[in-house]
Amino acid sequence: MPLSDNQPDDFPEIQPVSVPDHPVWPELTPEDKRRLEETIREMLESLNGVLVAHYYTHPDVQALAEKTGGCVADSLEMARFGTRHTAQTLVVAGVRFMGETAKILNPEKRVYMPDLAATCSLDEACPAEEFSRFCDLHPDHTVVVYANTSARVKARADWVVTSGIAAPLIEHLAAKGEKILWAPDRHLGRYLEMTTGADMLLWPGSCVVHEEFRSVALARVTRLHPDAAILVHPESPESVISQAHVVGSTTALIKAVSTMENKKFIVATDKGIFYKMRQAAPDKILIEAPTVGEGATCQACAECPWMGLNSLQSLTAGLENKTGEIRIDPLIRDQAVVPIRRMLQFAETLKKDDKD
Ligand code: 13P
Ligand code: SF4
Repeated sequence: MPLSDNQPDDFPEIQPVSVPDHPVWPELTPEDKRRLEETIREMLESLNGVLVAHYYTHPDVQALAEKTGGCVADSLEMARFGTRHTAQTLVVAGVRFMGETAKILNPEKRVYMPDLAATCSLDEACPAEEFSRFCDLHPDHTVVVYANTSARVKARADWVVTSGIAAPLIEHLAAKGEKILWAPDRHLGRYLEMTTGADMLLWPGSCVVHEEFRSVALARVTRLHPDAAILVHPESPESVISQAHVVGSTTALIKAVSTMENKKFIVATDKGIFYKMRQAAPDKILIEAPTVGEGATCQACAECPWMGLNSLQSLTAGLENKTGEIRIDPLIRDQAVVPIRRMLQFAETLKKDDKD
């Protein structure tokens, strides 16, 4: 499948990623929930810790992060929050690259995750050695990687970006005439190429959750709800993105629900986001964008199976057994921190420009 008009012949072969079913956690009684929340709260206190959760995690986990003074955010804000907070321990509920980013930015803090098996198909689709070889073949390109990558891949990059900051950064680099080697999400890469006009080589990774949104079915749902605004995360295929009223990071999509005048929204991203969307705009109607549909695998359920490893139960077990500590080779850390800090500094510049 052609990814981009200028895709090179030396492109690496990527092994398919094996995707587990979305975990099913036993239903909690209100009493069970209260007891688990209390246990986690006590463990956080004893560790001088704070809970940093992503919008795609289980609503119970998001609610607990809010109640305990932690944060619920997109991957960019999770990284920022961890560096600003005074807690000595960061408990990251999300997927592994988020825990690794927290550790890379805060080597003096302990970072725990409920389950270290919480990977991401983008991270898995970009093995560090193949990636590094590919970079070596294109030394005239600036290497920009999505945050959804391993510490080793980040260590090979000039820049790290999240979906919240990718477009202005690529625009900035393109304006300086830089050619870009982008990895690993081909859909986000394609979107950036189209919107900024940048000259980009695209690594062929994809998000197994967003890739399942279907454009023909989306058009059908839109006909049923012509007054709805369509909100799409840019990890979705081009044919889905092209129907969107808003394309953006998880934070941007939540903001759209509360700021746009529409009463109805069709949402193409992980269902975990509905918790915050409902909180932000309780009177709005939220409709799930269609995926492959009936009889399809869990891959098509619009719930990331790896984000699904975060629950009150796994948080409790992970903290009790201390099995989920993130450790990073210091040499890799020293290299990976450079492009991540560049991203955070660039984000600060953008904020300042917005205020001026
Ligand atoms: P955000 O950076 O928008 O939070 O997205 C992270 C992610 O993994 C989306 O699938
Ligand atoms: Fe990775 Fe997709 Fe899951 Fe986000 S939703 S963590 S990109 S697999």
